[in-house]
Amino acid sequence: MARYSEEVIQNVIESNDIVDVISGYVSLKKAGNSYKGKCPFHNEKTPSFSVSPDKQLYHCFGCGVGGNVITFMMEIENISFLEALELLADRVGITLPKNQSENNEKYQKKEQFYEINRNLANYYFLNLKHNHEAMAYINHRGINQDTIMTFGIGYALNAWRSAYSFFKKKGISNETLVENGIVIKNDQQKYYDRFRNRIMIPILNSRGKIIGFGGRILKDDEHGPKYLNSPDSIIFSKGTELFNLNNAKKNINSDSFIIVEGYMDVIALYQFGIKNVVAALGTAFTMYHAKLLSRYVKEIILCFDGDSAGEKATQRAIQVLSSSSLSIKVIRLDTTEDPDSFIRKYGIEKYKTKIKNAMTAIEYQLMFEKRNISLKTNDGKLKYIDHAIQIIRQSSSSAERELYSKLVAKESGVSAKVIYQMIMNHQQQNIIPELKSVIAQENNVPKAYLQAQESIIMDLLGQKILISDLSCNEDYYSEGFLRNVFISIKDFWNNSQKISLPLIAGQLDKSDQEKLTALVMNYSENKNIDLKENERILRLFYNISEIRRIKIKLKTIESTSPEVSGLLNQLMALKKQVDDVQEVPNG
Ligand code: CTP
Ligand code: MN
Repeated sequence: MARYSEEVIQNVIESNDIVDVISGYVSLKKAGNSYKGKCPFHNEKTPSFSVSPDKQLYHCFGCGVGGNVITFMMEIENISFLEALELLADRVGITLPKNQSENNEKYQKKEQFYEINRNLANYYFLNLKHNHEAMAYINHRGINQDTIMTFGIGYALNAWRSAYSFFKKKGISNETLVENGIVIKNDQQKYYDRFRNRIMIPILNSRGKIIGFGGRILKDDEHGPKYLNSPDSIIFSKGTELFNLNNAKKNINSDSFIIVEGYMDVIALYQFGIKNVVAALGTAFTMYHAKLLSRYVKEIILCFDGDSAGEKATQRAIQVLSSSSLSIKVIRLDTTEDPDSFIRKYGIEKYKTKIKNAMTAIEYQLMFEKRNISLKTNDGKLKYIDHAIQIIRQSSSSAERELYSKLVAKESGVSAKVIYQMIMNHQQQNIIPELKSVIAQENNVPKAYLQAQESIIMDLLGQKILISDLSCNEDYYSEGFLRNVFISIKDFWNNSQKISLPLIAGQLDKSDQEKLTALVMNYSENKNIDLKENERILRLFYNISEIRRIKIKLKTIESTSPEVSGLLNQLMALKKQVDDVQEVPNG
């Protein structure tokens, strides 16, 4: 439920020019009446992403996404409607009415948690400067002053209640501190700090708010886990956040992100100038992470630890990423190395060479299979082909499929044609029934009926006609998208006596919004026919569908039912209307 009034939302949308906002993320070039660029939501080489300054909408002719400026922010930043609204309001200096947001308890609580974490990070940061042992550890890891500042690295004192007293003095309740993961309550109902004698690394979300911490012990042989992370809370969810995304997304030009396992890997690469690097937070890589990353880049380079755990994590991440639109590359290191140790041992240039020579995910997986299967026996060859086919299938590019079919052919002695066929066979079986049902659904609505509805809707949006000019209400529109749009226009007009495309689009759900932007951006004016003719078509199809409905009804009720005569009369009237309508000459 919206916390802000329609007027407030309108004001924010109208004050944020969509071209300005999107230019912050996508490099746009003027092309006719609109601007074009490469779509940030799917992988493409030629620009098919279009932004219209007149319509204040964006639409990708490639992947079909679209919407208004709020939708864009929600999608690109992966945030909620309210967060997008707040961000855009901020951007143009609009102060959102406070009393309304205060009503929202959860929102208030989140803000309070962010604020507490910001204070805690400051506190840790100051501690570090004054603690010799902690500073010695930082130096020993080769972390410089700039990096300490960039990441806001700090130190949690070797004490049971330092953070606790720090916040008690500020009047923060025990419950809040526990819920935010800063403090733990023991069996004796005593409160104590979760993080003690640890190097503290703040974790920021993509908007730069501190949502949690990771803490590393100073000596590997000390008891307790090497790393301790904040528990999940209302502002922190490990499966959906990535360490350093806030910094990495500012270096989006590189078009790829490197994914590593650990905090220290990120910090080391960053210090050596490789800034487009992120890490999952001590959890497995999730589909949600993949989705998040695909908002910013087209390519992911996995560079996990060289050990067997890193190998397994690589395999798992490839599985997760394979259903996303991201292209995947892999760097493998020697068994004893991780990116942090590698870069310190061999230097940045060697690491850059590794990046340049990264394997594709398919190359990596084929290499992995070959390592475990002997190609000397026929049995081994067949097994290898079987696995290879499943691997190559993950690619949707036919060029790639052919290329790797040839490679596997060479290795196994079976012809590339056969291997390619085996890859394709399986694929078609899956897709055909799905395609069939899509085609069937689309064919359901006759083209003339669609065009008439679209024409009226476009004329309404272009203010060539007004709602009051119409004689057909929403019942005459086909159920779903077109009817929803019509209702959205009508409601908006009735409430505000005006037409605003981005706002009308904003009232629709995501899928209808995308369909509307596609319609608006694809529509050519000369398709318009006059309103009378369009409404004649609407009535015709409405009546035909009513006739169908009544006929079905008549079949399902007893012939002696009192309803029958009424239905028959209705049917006759409808049939007459249909005949009348059809007799009107075209145009
Ligand atoms: N991790 C964790 N809890 C642990 C161990 C690891 O949450 N007990 C997570 C941390 O995010 C850590 C990552 O897994 O950064 C990778 O672990 P590891 O490779 O052991 O750590 P490094 O980043 O290499 O740390 P260091 O170089 O400080 O040993
Ligand atoms: Mn390490």
